[in-house]
Formats: sequence, C-alpha cells, structure tokens
Amino acid sequence: MAVNMKGKSLISINDLTLEEIYQIFELSKTLKEKQLTNQPHRILEGKTLGMIFAKPSTRTRISFETGIYQLGGIGMYFGPNDLQLKRGETISDTAKVLSRYLNGIMIRTFNHQDVVDLAHFGSIPVINGLTDLLHPCQVLADLFTILEKRRELRGLKLAYVGDGNNMAHSLLHGCSKVGMDVAIATPADYEPQKEIVNNALRNAAYMGSKVDVTNDPAAAVKDADIIYTDVWASMGQEAEAAERKKKFLKFQVNSSLVKNAKEDYLFMHCLPAHRGEEVLEEVIDSPHSIIFDEAENRLHVQKAIMALVM
Ligand code: CP
Ligand code: NVA
Repeated sequence: MAVNMKGKSLISINDLTLEEIYQIFELSKTLKEKQLTNQPHRILEGKTLGMIFAKPSTRTRISFETGIYQLGGIGMYFGPNDLQLKRGETISDTAKVLSRYLNGIMIRTFNHQDVVDLAHFGSIPVINGLTDLLHPCQVLADLFTILEKRRELRGLKLAYVGDGNNMAHSLLHGCSKVGMDVAIATPADYEPQKEIVNNALRNAAYMGSKVDVTNDPAAAVKDADIIYTDVWASMGQEAEAAERKKKFLKFQVNSSLVKNAKEDYLFMHCLPAHRGEEVLEEVIDSPHSIIFDEAENRLHVQKAIMALVM
C-alpha cells in the first residue's frame, strides 16, 4: 500500500522509512518512462516550488527547475543575493512568509540547521538540495541508478574514497538503510562524523549489512561493486584546496586502485569532478563509469520526491 508522504520534508535520507525510499524509486521509474515516451504527467499542475541557492549549482538547479515544469508547476530561483535573508531576516520569518505563497521549498545552503529550521517554522515541505552535512537527493538518485543497473541493492558493496563530507554522510545513510555494505576510506582527520557512522552501524545491524570506515583506500575498494568519489575540497572549502590536494593524493581513484574492486565494478561521482585530482580520466571516462546516468536520474527521482511531498 502506498505511504502518504504529503507535506513531508526531505532533509535527510535517515528520516525516510525503507518503504518510503522504495516508493520514491517506483514513482521515479514510472515518471522516467512517461518522460521518455512523451506521456503527460502534470501531477503538480499550478504548484510553485521556491528554490533557494546560497551556493552554485548546475545539476540541482536545472533538474529541479525542469522537473517542476514537467510536472505542470513552476520553479522560482532565488540566488544568494535575492532574499532578505541576506540582510538579516530570520529563517523563521522567511519560512512563515514563504509558506503563504509557495507549495514547496528546495534549499541549498551551508548550515544544515538552517534547513531543519526552515522546515520547522514553515508549513510547506522543504527539500534539502545540499548542505555542508548532507546531500540526500543526490544519494537517492544514485541508489535508483544502481537499482536500474543491478536490479537490486541489498548485498552490494559500495566503496567511497575521499573526503568524509556531505556525500559520504548521505551515502552512509542511504546504503545502510537499504542493506548495502558501505566502506568509506578517507585520510586521517577527514573521516565522516561519528554520529552518522554510528547511526549507519545501527541501520546496517538491522538490515544485516556492513559499515567500514578506514584510512586504507585499497581495503575499502576490495571486492566493491561500486566505487564512488567526490571532490577533495567542497563548496566553501576553497581556501583549503591546496593543502587537501597533498593530503588526499593516496585517495585518488585511478586504474591501480580500481584493480581491487570486482571486475564489473561501476564508477560513480556526484559531479562536478576535478579530473586529475580525485579521479583520473582512465576511470571516469571508462565503460565502468555511469556518471551521466546518475546525473540524469536526479531529474526523475526529484520529480518523484516533489510529486509525493508537494
Ligand atoms: N551533484 C550536484 O549536486 O551538482 P550541482 O552542484 O551541479 O547541483
Ligand atoms: N561535496 C561537494 C558535492 C557537490 C555536489 C560539495 O559540497 O561541494
């Protein structure tokens, strides 16, 4: 039976039940088929999505804006200088005002708590389009992509190599929720947050899967079905980029590291990529790479999320 998700915010994958996750995947598949065969699916006719961006974006902005349009609604983009938030209007007043105009908000910002507060003080669903802590829409699209390629998620192993950042955190949430083994390899002092690892360990215990956090990239990648990486310096960490480039060198995904994975491994990256740093072209441009499928699926999965919550 369908789970009613109307009005629900999507701030973290960890807030979703397994049933809700698979409901999103099922609707994503339906909407993708409709889109690719030109069948109308104007489920959100006349609805308005506000899109707040405190950071740049290619995929998130374009997939949400195109997605709401294809569903019959309209997206309104607000850049870093557009709202009175910039001049000190509070999150709570902003949330209450926007709730009087819009049917949903998608927000990309720095401080995760701002997204939690926006949802708390407003009365419309809030969708997290990336914070310093999490990137749930990306990982839902990634899991959907893996499901398309491998037919099931449970029992697969995903190895994430790089920074213990928002991507690592959402992958820990997502993989552990669906019963995939997840191994995270980062340099010392760049590990994912303990609380998120502990939470993933609890999810994994329930699902009978594994969670490993290590400083050894080859150990993480051993027998992996999927190798995932992300930039070494995220948005907002530009000043640390040079130092990180040195510290992360051993965590580059190249042809020597991928030898540890299964022969038919898939390579994934949320993009944008810094070719020559976290990954070499011999991997990201190889037949193993499914980066553009995962980018495309942002559109279909986010349309499903909007259709379910708005
Ligand atoms: N992966 C992702 O969120 O890309 P953008 O920063 O381009 O939105
Ligand atoms: N970790 C990256 C992800 C970009 C989609 C960042 O936050 O910049």
